[in-house]
Amino acid sequence: MTQTSPPPAVEMRGIVKRFPGVIANDHVDLTVYPGEIHALLGENGAGKSTLMSVLAGMYRPDEGEIYLTPRGETQPRLVDIHSPRDAINLGIGMVHQHFMLVPPQTVAENIIIGLDEPRFFLNMSRVEEKVRQISEHYRLHVDPEAYIWQLSVGEQQRVEILKLLYRGADILILDEPTAVLTPQESDELGQTLRRMVAEGKSVIFITHKLDEVTKFADRVTVLRDGKNVATLPIAETNKTELARLMVGREVLFRLDKAQVDPGPVVLSLRNLEALNDKGLPALRGISLDIHSGEIVGIAGVAGNGQRELSEVVTGLRKATAGQVLVRDQEMTNCSPREFIQAGVSHIPGDRLGMGLAGNLPVSDNLIMKAYRGAPISSGPFLRFQPIRDFSRRLVKAFQIFTPGLGVPARLLSGGNQQKAILAREITAGDEMAGGEAAALIAVHPTRGLDVGATEAVRRTLLEQRSKGMAILLISEDLDELIALSDRIAVIYEGQIMGIVPADQADIAELGLMMAGEKKLAD
Ligand SMILES: Nc1ncnc2c1ncn2[C@@H]1O[C@H](COP(=O)(O)OP(=O)(O)O)[C@@H](O)[C@H]1O
Ligand SMILES: [Mg+2]
Repeated sequence: MTQTSPPPAVEMRGIVKRFPGVIANDHVDLTVYPGEIHALLGENGAGKSTLMSVLAGMYRPDEGEIYLTPRGETQPRLVDIHSPRDAINLGIGMVHQHFMLVPPQTVAENIIIGLDEPRFFLNMSRVEEKVRQISEHYRLHVDPEAYIWQLSVGEQQRVEILKLLYRGADILILDEPTAVLTPQESDELGQTLRRMVAEGKSVIFITHKLDEVTKFADRVTVLRDGKNVATLPIAETNKTELARLMVGREVLFRLDKAQVDPGPVVLSLRNLEALNDKGLPALRGISLDIHSGEIVGIAGVAGNGQRELSEVVTGLRKATAGQVLVRDQEMTNCSPREFIQAGVSHIPGDRLGMGLAGNLPVSDNLIMKAYRGAPISSGPFLRFQPIRDFSRRLVKAFQIFTPGLGVPARLLSGGNQQKAILAREITAGDEMAGGEAAALIAVHPTRGLDVGATEAVRRTLLEQRSKGMAILLISEDLDELIALSDRIAVIYEGQIMGIVPADQADIAELGLMMAGEKKLAD
C-alpha cells in the first residue's frame, strides 16, 4: 500500500440491530477496503449474518450509519440502504447461507431474475454470452443453459456469485460459503475471490472457522456477543489469539489421543441399502466394521447419505437390503428401542428436535433412557431421590453448566445441551450393553458449539473410545474427523469411496473422494 491509503470501500459506523430480547449488533464499526478479503469471524449467534444483512439491505439498522465510496470516487458518502435492490445498485451483494435460486429455471434466467429490463427485450443468447464471459474470467465454471435443479450445491453457489457479478457488485458478501463445499471447491473459491480483489473489489467472508480466516483473508474482524472485539491484519495474528478473541478466554487446541488397541467388532454394516425421504436410493451398499475402542469417521459433503446411515443404524429408518449386526447379533430393521437395549446410543444431528425435550427439566432429560431400571424406578413409580442423585452425578461428571436440575433443557446453551445428550447417551449405552462394549452414533456432535464446548465434547468422545466404546462419527468438519478418528470412510452418493487411517489422511485425497473419486488401491 502507498503512503496515502485509498478510502474505504465501505464503512459501517455504530450499527445497532435489535431483535426481541437480543441485541444482535451492538454499536458495531466495520471498515472494509477495496482489494481486500475481510473475514468476519465469530461463534454462532455472534451477529455476523445480521450485520451483513444490514449492509445488504435485508434489515434496517436501529442505529448507525453506512458510508460508501463508489468505484472511481475518492470521497465516502453517507448512503441509505432500504432494500437488497438499493444495495445492489450501490454495488453491494450478498450470497446467503440458504441459496435463493429458482430450480426449474436455467442459470442465465436466474441471473437476470429481478433485473429491470422486461424479459421480451432481452436477448437470452446475449445474456448467456455475458454470463459465459464473466464465468470464464473469474473461473466460476457453470453452464448458463443448465437448469438449477441439475446443479451440485457447489455449482449453485457459483451461480449466486455470478448473479452478483453480473449486476456489477464491487462488495461481495459470502455467508459461510465453504460449509457446502469439498476442500478442492473451497480452494477454487479462494482463487476466484483472489481474482476479484486483485481487480479492486472487496470480499467479506463470514465464517466461524479459524482455519479459513488464516487461509483466505487479508484482515479479520471478530464479533463476540454482537460487538466488534477486534479488527486485525492476518499477518499480525494467529489462531490462538483469534480463538481467544472469539470465545473470550484461552482455548486449548491439543487433544491427547491415547493409544488404544481396537477390540472385537461391535457394529457391522454389510451391503446396507436404504432410501431417502423422497424414495430415492440414499445408501447403496455400505459395508463397514467398527471395533471396540475405535472411532470411525464418516466424511462427505452434506446430503450424500450421512443422515440415512445414522438412521438405519439406530432403528429410525428401514434398510431395503443388507444387514446391521451388533456384536454379531442380527439387528437389521429393529426398532429404536431395540437398538437402545442393545447398547447402541445416538447423538442426533438435531439437538433440540430429537435430542432433548426442551420444555422438560434437565433432570428428566438426563434420566430419559435410564428410567426403566432400578434404582431410578421401582415398579411403575419413579423415585425422586435417586433421580436427583443420578442427574447430579451426570451434571458433575460431564461438566454441564445449568442453573439447576429443574430448569427446562431449552434454556441451556447449545454446548451444555450437547453435553447433556452425551451424558445421557453414554451412560445409557454402557448400562444397556451390560459390561460389553457399547456403540455410539455421533452425528455432527460439535456443530454450532463454541470452541470450549467443542473441546469438551471431543474429549468425551476420546474418553469413551479409551473405555472401549465403538463410535461412528459423522461430521462435515475434516479437521475434527482427522483429530478424533482412527479410520475415515468417505461417503459419496450413498457409497463408500474409500477408507483411510486417520493418521495418514491427506485432505486433498479425502476431498477427491468427497467429490466422487474412488480411492486408488494401495
Ligand atoms: N430474524 C431474527 N429474529 C430474532 N432474532 C434473530 C433473528 N436473526 C438473528 N437473531 C438473533 O440475533 C443474534 C445474532 O444472530 P446472527 O446474526 O444470525 O448470528 P451469526 O450469523 O453470527 O451466527 C442471535 O442471538 C440470533 O438468535
Ligand atoms: Mg450466520
